[in-house]
Amino acid sequence: MAKTQTSYSCNSCGATFTKWSGRCDGCGEWNSIVEDKPLSSGPASKSLGASRGKGLSLTDLSTEEAPPQRTICGMSELDRVLGGGLVPGSAILVGGDPGIGKSTLLLQAAARFSNSGLDTIYISGEEAAAQVRMRAQRLGLTDAPVRLAADTNLRNILTTLDAERPQLAIIDSIQTMWADNVDSAPGSVSQVRAAAHELTTFAKTRGISVVLVGHVTKDGQIAGPRVVEHMVDTVLYFEGERGHQFRILRAVKNRFGPADEIGVFEMTGGGLSEVLNPSALFLSDREEPAPGSVVFAGIEGTRPVLVEFQALVAPSPHSQPRRSVLGWDGGRLAMILAVLEARCGIPFAGLDVYLNVAGGMKVSDPAADLAVAAALLSAREDASLPKDTVVFGEISLSGALRPVGQTENRLKEAQKLGFTSVIAPARSKTGSDPGIGVQKMTDLAGFVGEIFGAG
Ligand code: TYD
Ligand code: MG
Repeated sequence: MAKTQTSYSCNSCGATFTKWSGRCDGCGEWNSIVEDKPLSSGPASKSLGASRGKGLSLTDLSTEEAPPQRTICGMSELDRVLGGGLVPGSAILVGGDPGIGKSTLLLQAAARFSNSGLDTIYISGEEAAAQVRMRAQRLGLTDAPVRLAADTNLRNILTTLDAERPQLAIIDSIQTMWADNVDSAPGSVSQVRAAAHELTTFAKTRGISVVLVGHVTKDGQIAGPRVVEHMVDTVLYFEGERGHQFRILRAVKNRFGPADEIGVFEMTGGGLSEVLNPSALFLSDREEPAPGSVVFAGIEGTRPVLVEFQALVAPSPHSQPRRSVLGWDGGRLAMILAVLEARCGIPFAGLDVYLNVAGGMKVSDPAADLAVAAALLSAREDASLPKDTVVFGEISLSGALRPVGQTENRLKEAQKLGFTSVIAPARSKTGSDPGIGVQKMTDLAGFVGEIFGAG
């Protein structure tokens, strides 16, 4: 008889391996690989081709079905991130660091959806029902017709959902769920994967929408939400810095709407409140223009958002100068520094560079390149940019500035917030009357010469 092969899988991304190693080749996480316990010790099954399956009935692509009737909960930030409301029978994963506010968000969402007429069940595997009720009381939600239970046994939960047939079920969290037919501890890759699979297929076949809450883990003790990302229709991440009150709900995958859409919330004593004008919030602490500070006119999803980049450049006491970045991509920073050196003759060797997005926002828009370059130069030359100016544009390796999408929306947002001039790549589609002063630049060297009189 063949020897049973031990297999290993990564708690973070779910990749499987035949050998243990300290670092996962799939996602690069350290200490996340654990041994998989076999599900059953029966003989290896024969090839499926040998047995006779049932013939599938095949259809064509044409449809008479109406598009799904979405339910709007009234929290417009959440409705937009979902792609315009909740689609019946959809499976949604909400991931985020512990303590970031997932349970708060979902309890508020449950209340809103149930008030909009959706039969909603909230199942807490982490807190006792009394604790959830206390939270609801603090949030002023006790009147909402949400039905609540606290349990972690998947069999009990599925039986309950089957009997009650709600339209929306919220499972908080997937890592506490325990399927008794799987022979490993709750929170392990096998358990999380099995529970998510059972819940999503159950929900799909019965037309119940299901929201799974998943903790992002750093220590690898429990499986992270990436293990279930591919099983659901929509993946939302709830992000934010603990010290800041802003929280950003970001769609990273959505079968029913645009990905990269964001919703902005503020954590207050009375729960999460929506931030309908995030630009005003992100720029609210801005004082007079200072060296190293540049306002970027960005687009997040379908919405323009102005954020402030802050840079600090200082002589380095280290042989290897520091490059520290918060809220932006570190690799992209290295690229901008290299282009500034190679194409504009401005070296950063021997200088520590710190770059930060104010307010705890994470920026992924490639148009931030020019704003970052401007912040770095402004910090290095100790010269502030002209007052009331916003910047955007992508930088190519040749040092040329490339136009970016949604220029008019960026200009409109800048104008709305009282900015009077914009620095943008040449060939940007600004329209005939942009309503704001636009300075167009063809390349980075020209920008450096024009704005900082150097280069
Ligand atoms: P929680 O929703 O429990 O986080 P998660 O489910 O992601 O682990 O949020 C917990 C934090 O939110 C906690 O540190 C306290 C804070 N909080 C408020 O600031 N205001 C509130 O009204 C509530 C309910 C929580
Ligand atoms: Mg929670």
